[in-house]
Amino acid sequence: MKLIVLLALVGITAAVMQIGVMKVKSTRHRLMEQGLWLQHLKDKEAKLLDNKINVLATVGQIITDYDDSEYVGNITIGTPGQPFIVNLDTSSANLWIPDITCKSCANYKPKFDSTKTSTYQTNGQSWSIQYANGLAKGVLGVDTVRFGADGTQQLVIPKTTFGQATSVDTNLQQNFADGILGLAFQSIAVDNVVPPLINAINQNLLDNPYFTVYFQEKGPALNVPGGVITYGGMDNQNCGSLIAWQPLSSATYFQFKMASIGSYSNVKGSNGWDVISDTGTSFIGGPQSITDLLAYGAGAIYDSDYQTYFIDCKANPSPITIVIGNNTYQINQKQLIVDVDWGNNICEWAMRPITSSGFGPAWTLGYPWIRQYCNTYDLGGKRIGFSLANGA
Ligand SMILES: *[C@@H]1O[C@H](CO)[C@@H](O)[C@H](O)[C@H]1NC(C)=O
Ligand SMILES: *[C@@H]1O[C@H](CO)[C@@H](O)[C@H](O)[C@H]1NC(C)=O
Repeated sequence: MKLIVLLALVGITAAVMQIGVMKVKSTRHRLMEQGLWLQHLKDKEAKLLDNKINVLATVGQIITDYDDSEYVGNITIGTPGQPFIVNLDTSSANLWIPDITCKSCANYKPKFDSTKTSTYQTNGQSWSIQYANGLAKGVLGVDTVRFGADGTQQLVIPKTTFGQATSVDTNLQQNFADGILGLAFQSIAVDNVVPPLINAINQNLLDNPYFTVYFQEKGPALNVPGGVITYGGMDNQNCGSLIAWQPLSSATYFQFKMASIGSYSNVKGSNGWDVISDTGTSFIGGPQSITDLLAYGAGAIYDSDYQTYFIDCKANPSPITIVIGNNTYQINQKQLIVDVDWGNNICEWAMRPITSSGFGPAWTLGYPWIRQYCNTYDLGGKRIGFSLANGA
């Protein structure tokens, strides 16, 4: 009797699945170390101007800059699975990887070969996505996508539509990852493609329509386990109990209201600022009038060439306080003071001025926030939950 019950349970497993993520050196930090960053920044800005891409005035989409991404995950596509490393990005909603037919993809090693998978179906619709560091474009295909590395526990999502890139700008190929896995809502997906995780939720593969991100602080260690994403549940191993759910103000990105940061609040909006939680951003970004004040309070100094603040590695300013909904959160300075291996006690202070020009969020909460608090991104309930990360 017991056995039958067990088998029945096994048969219906909708699941909660924990899949490790890796911490790698971001393109920006790699180029900073090699003394090549300022040139790269100039090239990028020139290219944006050349292409007349007005980052501020176009589509109302955030143009993500993957130069800063540090946390990546393994996936496989097809049967048998072809392995790729992807940026895990809560502020975009498409999955794409380089295709074997891509002639400009010289810097990529793994490339998707649709002739070597038995589960592949053609779609053929074209797609293109403009990022701050370049353009990627190609055709859509359909196949089984598995989150997690081959030979480990995987979240298997049959019949997932994804992008096969047939052309990728060289700048974009400098990233450690082969491609990008967008985890946001379908409303911001290019070509209105159903995002892989929404596809998993629609197929009842998960216990709950949410996922929890735990990013570990690992200092300068590289290509090491750097955290865990729990698909379909909370993460009781790495995170404390839930502090609060905050309703999303827009189910596009994971966008919500932040009442204040430090002792500053939005003088223009009584409900506070619009803010997003972003697993693809290494810093906390906001209006420069406020980030300058916060930096001054912490003893950090802005460098306009590098477009970032620097601080003495040994500085020990007080935590930054953030009010969201009815709760007050604290980001410890150890999440903000980042050693870039420059020596001489020079560290980066992981806050940066960003411009939103009226549309979209005024603030972006990236790694310092996510390393301090596990974030639970609820695609079904259109809300976001926070719990203290272990060791933060
Ligand atoms: C992820 O993929 C990389 C490259 O193929 C590999 O070195 C690494 O071991 C993989 N991670 C896991 C957990 O298998
Ligand atoms: C904040 O507290 C008020 C009053 O207790 C409650 O009505 C509201 O739902 C709470 N807001 C959130 C986001 O929990």
